[in-house]
Amino acid sequence: MSENLYPVPESWAKTARVDAAAYERLHAQSLSDPDGFWLEQARRLDWIVPPATAGDWSFDEADFRIRWFADGKLNVAANCLDRHLATRGDQTAILWEPDDPREDPRRITYRELHEQVCRFANVLKAEGVRKGDRVTVYMPMIPEAAVALLACARIGAIHSVVFGGFSPEALAGRIVDCDSRIVITADEGRRGGKRVPLKANVDAAQKHAPVLEKVIVVQATGGGVVMQPGRDLWYHEAAAKVSADCPAEPMGAEDPLFILYTSGSTGKPKGVLHSSGGYLLWAAYTHEVVFDYRPGQVYWCAADIGWVTGHSYIVYGPLANGGITLMFEGVPTWPDAGRMWQVVDRHQVEILYTAPTALRALMKEGDGYVTATSRTSLKLLGSVGEPINPEAWRWYHDVVGEGRCPIVDTWWQTETGGHMITPLPGATALKPGSASMPFFGIEPQLVDGDGALLEGATEGNLVIARSWPGQMRTVWGDHERFFQTYFTTYRGKYFTGDGCRRDGDGYYWITGRVDDVINVSGHRMGTAEVESALVLHDKVAEAAVVGMPHDIKGQGIYAYVTLNAGEEASEALRKELRDWVRGEIGPIATPDALQFAPGLPKTRSGKIMRRILRKIAEGDVSSLGDTSTLADPAVVDDLVANRVG
Ligand code: WT7
Repeated sequence: MSENLYPVPESWAKTARVDAAAYERLHAQSLSDPDGFWLEQARRLDWIVPPATAGDWSFDEADFRIRWFADGKLNVAANCLDRHLATRGDQTAILWEPDDPREDPRRITYRELHEQVCRFANVLKAEGVRKGDRVTVYMPMIPEAAVALLACARIGAIHSVVFGGFSPEALAGRIVDCDSRIVITADEGRRGGKRVPLKANVDAAQKHAPVLEKVIVVQATGGGVVMQPGRDLWYHEAAAKVSADCPAEPMGAEDPLFILYTSGSTGKPKGVLHSSGGYLLWAAYTHEVVFDYRPGQVYWCAADIGWVTGHSYIVYGPLANGGITLMFEGVPTWPDAGRMWQVVDRHQVEILYTAPTALRALMKEGDGYVTATSRTSLKLLGSVGEPINPEAWRWYHDVVGEGRCPIVDTWWQTETGGHMITPLPGATALKPGSASMPFFGIEPQLVDGDGALLEGATEGNLVIARSWPGQMRTVWGDHERFFQTYFTTYRGKYFTGDGCRRDGDGYYWITGRVDDVINVSGHRMGTAEVESALVLHDKVAEAAVVGMPHDIKGQGIYAYVTLNAGEEASEALRKELRDWVRGEIGPIATPDALQFAPGLPKTRSGKIMRRILRKIAEGDVSSLGDTSTLADPAVVDDLVANRVG
């Protein structure tokens, strides 16, 4: 394990917003006087009624509650737009780079964005959307996606973004779960030169989502779509009929801002609900401090708006800070593997935030694509989504950043709203592969399986001992599930689901999920979800899914499938089942390996022994451990003999 230390460059230590001494002081203060600290920080937002209270929370069952700034009132869209108009109305807010590099980028100023958001908000109002209503957003990476989110925020509607790579079935499930009668989509999306039939997917989703009444369609590609009279309307036609004036709805700090579905270890995806005040403060504050963001800098978060990273670090954080946020429609490998570095040069990007999986995919193509570009604009690099292996870290640092740019390896989750454990570029000496130190207000702890606190250099389960403003507030429609999922494993603490090591210098090293969640290319996939999709197929009797190591994706999906009696295993069926899962959930859920298994290893009480399945998937068959408790130990021999990959 690499313990190389990369000290803070002197120039960063001198000029950064937070240096090492300030980090120590502020972190200590944030824990010793949280109310004072957070009421002071809350002033970075523009409040209609400034809050007089900060955190009001308990993780105990008897008085379980999480509230921040509860007596404050604000509007999130006004914070991201209106308050910047006087000082930087003509500055670019969104800088959009199209999928096809031969096309022109788009630049949208704060004034233009404000006008578009007001119009979109008025279209939503005209369609009967009111404060508290849920609006599903199923969009490609075009500026109108950000406009749609901010339009919801402006009128107090709760947006629920569904990643454009999800299938009609997955979309329908999310529409139904949050009872959303309206969907905002586009005719088609574009990615890597290919078209994604978003509107047609919405049409297909309707069959399983009768609650859906209205579809607002943004014309993105001009590709042909079938419009259903009475249900579908073109955004550009509706927008021409409404005024560009829309007052921002005053919202309580605790009023919901959005729902975002994420996979867990059991059951269907959970609707993670975030607040208006605490969430926005967390997104804005972390964006400013972790990226040391300065007005005028071109900042690029290369995520999709369908994930929390896109919410917090393409839209809300950078716009709350009056920044220039680059939005990229395309993919890192098209037309060639130099695309990201060409975009950096084209727009003089100073801060780049991407995922280890993208870096590994590009690293594999060789340094030539990188060194063919200049990249002299780059000052800071960021990583998110999964542990970054030291080899990819060094490539990012040495080749992409030419040794000049610190890397902030940011650990956080959909549930946390924003960065939790991360270096600060002017304060933290870096260790490749370590997310390093807690952000202000964050108190991480490591506990053993019984919940006993582990001190010093150690390894255990990562919990967070106190609330923070950006914390999720509930699971949509199932507050009990929220409590059960996160606060019962270790009483009185938020359980992250991650394993973690703390070294002798107090650095945190995330080791990966300790639950039945697979991290595929930095995206969370629940094993139960893939299993449910497989058993829906009429030839499948039973399925068990585990993670396996994957060079590019970090983890891949390994599925064991038992067929119904009389069904024949074949290559054709293997392909059919993989395609089936892809169709049920989306391409990211496609099993990388699928093994036909006449039987699964079960205890005598019928519980599948996943530990054994994981070992076989990893190819680590020499240490299967104790199999004596299995109902039928012979099934293991068959699984080992017929391992795929
Ligand atoms: C899980 C959360 C955070 C937004 C994108 C993913 C893993 C995330 C890191 C990191 C090691 C990381 C964790 C976490 N993870 N960032 N820097 N180092 N692991 O959000 O889908 O909610 O997934 O991603 O396992 O629990 P998500």
